[in-house]
Amino acid sequence: MAAGAESVIASQPLSLYHRHNVATLKNVPNLKERLVSAAPVEDDSSFELKLRPQRLAEFIGQPKVKENLAVAIEAARSRGEALDHVLLYGPPGLGKTTLATIIANELGVPFQQTSGPTLQIKGDLTAILTNVRDKQVLFIDEVHRLQPALEEILYSALEDYKLDIIIGQGPAARTHTMDVKPFTFIGATTRAGLLSSPLRSRFGIVLRLEFYGHEELRVIVERSADILGVEIDRPGALEIASRSRGTPRIANRLLRRVRDYAQVRGAGKIDEPTAQKALQMLEVDRHGFDEIDRKLLLTIIEKYQGGPVGLNTLAAVLAEEPDAIEEIYEPFLIQIGFLNRTQRGRVATQLAYEHFGITPNRRQSSLF
Ligand SMILES: Nc1ncnc2c1ncn2[C@@H]1O[C@H](COP(=O)(O)OP(=O)(O)O)[C@@H](O)[C@H]1O
Ligand SMILES: [Mg+2]
Repeated sequence: MAAGAESVIASQPLSLYHRHNVATLKNVPNLKERLVSAAPVEDDSSFELKLRPQRLAEFIGQPKVKENLAVAIEAARSRGEALDHVLLYGPPGLGKTTLATIIANELGVPFQQTSGPTLQIKGDLTAILTNVRDKQVLFIDEVHRLQPALEEILYSALEDYKLDIIIGQGPAARTHTMDVKPFTFIGATTRAGLLSSPLRSRFGIVLRLEFYGHEELRVIVERSADILGVEIDRPGALEIASRSRGTPRIANRLLRRVRDYAQVRGAGKIDEPTAQKALQMLEVDRHGFDEIDRKLLLTIIEKYQGGPVGLNTLAAVLAEEPDAIEEIYEPFLIQIGFLNRTQRGRVATQLAYEHFGITPNRRQSSLF
């Protein structure tokens, strides 16, 4: 059983978002698109390991999330108990995996990671649960993609640390209930809306990650530059931060590309003009929009005269799932004031028109 569990856990983190990548990036997999995608791309993984904060104090931003976690961790530690199960949700690249590892570090317990799509058969999950160590963290990424039969196994393990195992087959089959050691389950998802309510109700701590502000991202860029041994000044870091779509993963990726540019075309140091020239060469626009952001806004503006457009119509035109549009793409566009959700559908704002250099006609402008 131990061997089975290990082979499941030895999943490559890179495969986690592959399906997402294939679905959204298949048409134009060019460099520009990969640069500003929040999903991990292939050469991210080793850098992400190096740049990933290890302790809560190093984790920048998300003050509410940090405060909640700090209190819960401290309380669990002083009681000598396993921390309550934690659900982390929010768009890709905001720090869910990072926080899961930090929680284990702060608790001083072992950390084990797998993902919803990796766990295919009941035996995989049963093997993991029977081998769980006292108070350890079990992290399941993309928990919304766990199969229903596996979710059911998980419920009872999460509820009362019991596992029902069926031994034998057909009429001779017997159910045997096993105890599981108390552990902390951490689920991460970009799509909280897709979680079944029984599973959702098993989480004692539910935390939503928000997009980061420019100042927070600037601090992240400066920290990463320090780790990578790159000289950067504050305006240079802010330039990268402001084009990172509120997302640390993108900020770190842009930093690495700008570093290359600074090395080859400049004196190695990243200042504002160097960052600007590099990002211009890389065709990362002022907001760091990716292809879907652009397509979503341009569809509303050009095909639907600025909206309102219903979510399902938009999803059909973009060949995306409505939930993905609602939970991954729209939140950032709404936060920066480019998109509004109204009763009758999605509306592109004046700012969105200005960004694309399009003048709204009279009928459209009455909507603003
Ligand atoms: N709050 C933060 N402070 C510093 N770096 C961060 C923070 N959040 C994320 N990062 C960086 O961004 C990268 C992506 O974060 P990750 O936890 O993998 O995101 P998610 O699991 O939500 O997709 C990490 O490797 C880390 O370097
Ligand atoms: Mg992750």
